[in-house]
Amino acid sequence: MGDKEKLLISESEGTGSKILTKKSTSKVPWYLATGFLLFWGLLFFAIVIPFFNRLPTARTLDDADKNVFIAERAYKNLYTLSNIGYKLTGSKENEIEAVQFLLNELEDIKETSLKDFFDMEIDLSQASGSYPYKNLLNMYQGVQNIAVKLAPKNCTSETYLLVNSHFDSKPFTPSAGDAGFMIVTMLEVLRVISTTRETFQHPIVFLFNGAEEGMMEASHGFITQHKWAPKCKAVINLEGVGGGGREVLFQSGPNHSWLLNYYKKYVKYPFATVVAEEVFQSGVIPSDSDFTQFRKYGNVPGLDIIQLTNGYIYHTIYDVIDEIPREALQNSGDNILSLVRGFANATELHDTKVFFYIIVNILIIN
Ligand SMILES: *[C@@H]1O[C@H](CO)[C@@H](O)[C@H](O)[C@H]1NC(C)=O
Ligand SMILES: *[C@@H]1O[C@H](CO)[C@@H](O)[C@H](O)[C@H]1NC(C)=O
Ligand SMILES: *[C@@H]1O[C@H](CO)[C@@H](O)[C@H](O)[C@H]1NC(C)=O
Repeated sequence: MGDKEKLLISESEGTGSKILTKKSTSKVPWYLATGFLLFWGLLFFAIVIPFFNRLPTARTLDDADKNVFIAERAYKNLYTLSNIGYKLTGSKENEIEAVQFLLNELEDIKETSLKDFFDMEIDLSQASGSYPYKNLLNMYQGVQNIAVKLAPKNCTSETYLLVNSHFDSKPFTPSAGDAGFMIVTMLEVLRVISTTRETFQHPIVFLFNGAEEGMMEASHGFITQHKWAPKCKAVINLEGVGGGGREVLFQSGPNHSWLLNYYKKYVKYPFATVVAEEVFQSGVIPSDSDFTQFRKYGNVPGLDIIQLTNGYIYHTIYDVIDEIPREALQNSGDNILSLVRGFANATELHDTKVFFYIIVNILIIN
């Protein structure tokens, strides 16, 4: 039918345009179109997927004196943390066992830190409050946050970098990936920074929060009530909806392009996707994260970084440490260590609001 139409058109337009018409309507042969798709498909399988699956060699305690992220240590902590079992907010496992494990580990880090170079403060707090969530009022009482502030001695900066993840779990999941993985990564990052004689501009607050899986109560409690919250001007939020591969930059902003520039500059093995951000913000995935709370109630911009390999284990009894290779911890650890160091030196952090207005002003003047 297509050919018949073509013929009619070229006849009615006379001989002069005949060749032209024929040329313009002729189609690319089918095998080229298929080849084109195949080409991109192959490119995806040949480059993107192997790239996504490639992980660095995991470091062992042999490198303990090199001031680098040691996956072996993070793995050992993940073993202990996930072996506590289900850590439902309010349960003995979450409020006593997990909290005690983290406090012990943090005291240990504080003990080995460079005390003449850094000030390290560990703060266990409880928060109660309420906020509207969808069409109900969510009230909570006594949720726990462990916040650790690390500042170089003589540091005068009044703006802090916040690094957050949660240690509680849904019912019936040991939650090794969501988000035990990120909790032990934070512990190791803190250990490395606090034992390395390298200074930075802004104090860093590491927040180990104990109530995310309900409706993100602990992050709300922190950002609305904690003594350090008003000074936190940017956040690196770490999450898991699975675990065991590369972590992905899921969301950034709002409006602070320097965040992405720092990500590009400092992350050793970057993997970011705009598709992920679009999907998340479109509301197709019926899920929120602490990142939303910090933005909504604290107006804190930042990066939302997520482990999402093995998504089928998310919120199930299969979210166990066996799914997590040490190499994945090394990958995320190297990235997050470098990113935290970069952010902690960011001049943009001095006042994120002023920074935004400066950009607007420049645009208007131009
Ligand atoms: C902090 O300041 C004191 C007094 O000015 C000085 O003696 C000390 O060396 C400084 N510490 C660091 C780590 O810069
Ligand atoms: C941060 O700045 C200090 C000097 O103020 C410098 O010694 C350090 O290497 C910087 N760190 C990074 C990651 O740029
Ligand atoms: C981000 O920028 C957009 C467009 O410039 C603006 O409408 C919006 O209010 C900004 N959001 C924040 C949180 O500043």
